[in-house]
Amino acid sequence: MGELAPSILAADFNRLGENIRCLEKEGVRMLHIDVMDGNFVPSISFGMPVIQSIRQESSMFFDVHLMIEEPARYLQDFVQAGADGITIHAEACKDIKGTLQSLKKQPVQAAMSIKPDTPVTAIQDYLGQLDMVLVMSVEPGFGGQKLIPAALDKVARLKELREREGYSYQIEIDGGVNHSNLGLIMSSGVDIAVAGTAVFQGNIAENIKNLKEVMESAS
Ligand code: DX5
Ligand code: ZN
Repeated sequence: MGELAPSILAADFNRLGENIRCLEKEGVRMLHIDVMDGNFVPSISFGMPVIQSIRQESSMFFDVHLMIEEPARYLQDFVQAGADGITIHAEACKDIKGTLQSLKKQPVQAAMSIKPDTPVTAIQDYLGQLDMVLVMSVEPGFGGQKLIPAALDKVARLKELREREGYSYQIEIDGGVNHSNLGLIMSSGVDIAVAGTAVFQGNIAENIKNLKEVMESAS
């Protein structure tokens, strides 16, 4: 079965610890953490101090999605703050190869993401080195948007390349995932589905149960 990674961007920050405990109680193993710099994306979210603080609360896998320009500058800081996996954006690096090399030196899983308009060919040379590829299914920057279906074609392409070349990355999708499209998403070959609004709007425990149920029946 695939993995569900709730994105805390949609959490109630006034009750962040409480929200995270609730996820753990429901058996969630991976937490998606969106870092935005107001430059690579228009919005600003949060940075190292928040991650460091929730690290003390949780033993979940921290999947840190860096939506920041030239992320090489901050890799070590995010590792120290408690990241288990770090995703950099191909579009955010002048030197993709060098940035990936720096990431690979860190004791975390290495992932690369592409925005909706970026083709898989933009990262094709690096696929063999990646633990995960994050396919953005909305323009990064905000939660609560609608999934762009063409992202699923990229998932299919990544799955095909993985089989053909013997690569081992996991495929993650992020943006607009909900109860109604999750079945289709999982059957297209996604390993990890990020969900913000669909997890945190309303009753978190019920949402997790419902989303997991859809995941189970799709696998
Ligand atoms: C968007 C973020 C997403 C976002 C997902 O830039 O990368 O992780 O929080 O939110 P929903 O699930 O509401 O689209
Ligand atoms: Zn994200």
